Amino acid sequence: MKRVITYGTFDMLHYGHINLLKRAKEMGDYLIVALSTDEFNWESKQKKTYFSYEKRKQLLEAIRYVDLVIPEKSWEQKVPDVKLYQVDTFVMGDDWAGQFDFIQEETDAKVVYLARTPEISTTQIKKDLNETSLVTNHKSEID
Ligand code: CTP
Repeated sequence: MKRVITYGTFDMLHYGHINLLKRAKEMGDYLIVALSTDEFNWESKQKKTYFSYEKRKQLLEAIRYVDLVIPEKSWEQKVPDVKLYQVDTFVMGDDWAGQFDFIQEETDAKVVYLARTPEISTTQIKKDLNETSLVTNHKSEID
């Protein structure tokens, strides 16, 4: 059985995430998603998610391409994870291109960067909703 692993926050799940997960699953038989915990997001990236870890995990587990969700708690866990789960392919979106090549040197896994789906991200959704509500609020002030 070929095992694939990928890492991410997957907040406010969108079609860019689904495309990534679908293509990752197509690279093997068993897809593991290492999902950034709320603490890791905050400590490492000063990022506060809209959905909590438990809710993000529940959403990912409902996706047919995802076989297992494990927590991502630190930057250093990737090599140990790959060894522990006997991963064949480590997959990331190409916003991380080149940054995880060391995994190929330190384990038996192949590292693959997949092209991001254009024009969609959690950041963009938040920004667009924010702008929409600003316009709506402003409009109701003048009406
Ligand atoms: N991803 C993708 N295409 C997109 C958005 C995300 O392929 N349009 C991939 C990322 O490259 C990553 C995974 O989905 O491998 C999880 O990405 P994440 O950073 O959680 O999602 P974003 O929408 O990019 O979130 P943010 O805007 O907060 O960075």
